[in-house]
Amino acid sequence: MKKFLKILGIIVGIIVLAVAGIAAWINFSDMPSHPVQDLEVKLPIDSLSLARGAKIARTVCAYCHQGESGKYDGKLFSPESEGFGEIWSGNLTHHPTAGLGRYKDGEIAYLLRTGIKRNGKLAGPFMFFPNLSDEDMAAVIAYLRSDAPEVAASDDVRTTRYSFLAKALIKFGAFKPLPYDAKPRLAPPASDQVAYGRYLATAVYDCAGCHSASFETNNLMEPEKSPGFFGGGNPVADPEFKLIPSRNITPHPEQGIGKWTEEQFFKAVRSGIRPDGKALSVAMPRFALQDEVEINAIWAYLKTVPVLATTVAKAGK
Ligand code: HEC
Ligand code: HEC
Repeated sequence: MKKFLKILGIIVGIIVLAVAGIAAWINFSDMPSHPVQDLEVKLPIDSLSLARGAKIARTVCAYCHQGESGKYDGKLFSPESEGFGEIWSGNLTHHPTAGLGRYKDGEIAYLLRTGIKRNGKLAGPFMFFPNLSDEDMAAVIAYLRSDAPEVAASDDVRTTRYSFLAKALIKFGAFKPLPYDAKPRLAPPASDQVAYGRYLATAVYDCAGCHSASFETNNLMEPEKSPGFFGGGNPVADPEFKLIPSRNITPHPEQGIGKWTEEQFFKAVRSGIRPDGKALSVAMPRFALQDEVEINAIWAYLKTVPVLATTVAKAGK
């Protein structure tokens, strides 16, 4: 018996030490580092491309990166209470040390494709643009390099502190970069309405990311494979970090937008006003800069996605 207890004691001791060792490793070792690439990017100089880059950045990047000053010098993305630590989005202004002055154009592109920052570390699993066309990617970067007031140098730097949980998820590879292949990415022409709508809704404005079942189960490389594709229910944080479930925007006549008219859709997406006259939460970005060509293409595409009957509890009702 005594011998048994002794052996048990030794085994428990080993387990305790192993757990403490793993915990210390998670907490104190360096975050995993990945090779960085400087992709070839040719920045456009024509005014049409610059306007397109501005439109995408002001809609997509601004949502997470526009600070209180109005500049894209970063904002609180996730507070401590959410469980992943205190996470600040980066400073995208021209500043040489705090902002993108330290990035090469091709390093910004590589980060947007894979999530790998120029220091080799993962920029969380929050920001991936694997299917954005090469042309739109270059247009966004050209805008970030432009003399627009939002990207004028700001030295504001905040430090992200990942929680133990986030560190564990990154170190055990649950949060990881996307693979990169050098294949060219082309956007379909606007004249191919449904294909163009699909491109906008899945690769540029990420309607699919917010409107499928969950950020955790989304398939970023092949959005159609995301569970609950466009069925809604994904909790999205509003500016006060209140979670608002996204809605079913498949053509389901009751749960989705099957009975909506194109005008109603246009108003909801551009101005955030539902057909019943109620305002949508600002967790739903306003696509006020998008014109009829873009919104009508998204509408045409959404008519073709598989109908889901997902019921989403309406926020604020
Ligand atoms: C859903 C929110 C979200 C969106 C949308 C988003 N970002 Fe980010 N971005 C983040 C967060 C959060 C970080 C910081 C992650 C970290 O450092 O751990 C970040 C980091 C970055 C960095 C790295 C900065 C640094 O200091 O190394 C760059 C560059 C960047 N984003 C560019 C962009 C661009 C360009 C767009 C638009 C095409 C964009 N982001 C859209 C959330 C977002
Ligand atoms: C950052 C996450 C996010 C993105 C990106 C996003 N949405 Fe939403 N959307 C939401 C949330 C959350 C709601 C629910 C708001 C509420 O209940 O007040 C919503 C609501 C809607 C509604 C209203 C549906 C209803 O039944 O009232 C429509 C339509 C819609 N979104 C379309 C789109 C389209 C089209 C895109 C892409 C161009 C898009 N959304 C991108 C989060 C998002």
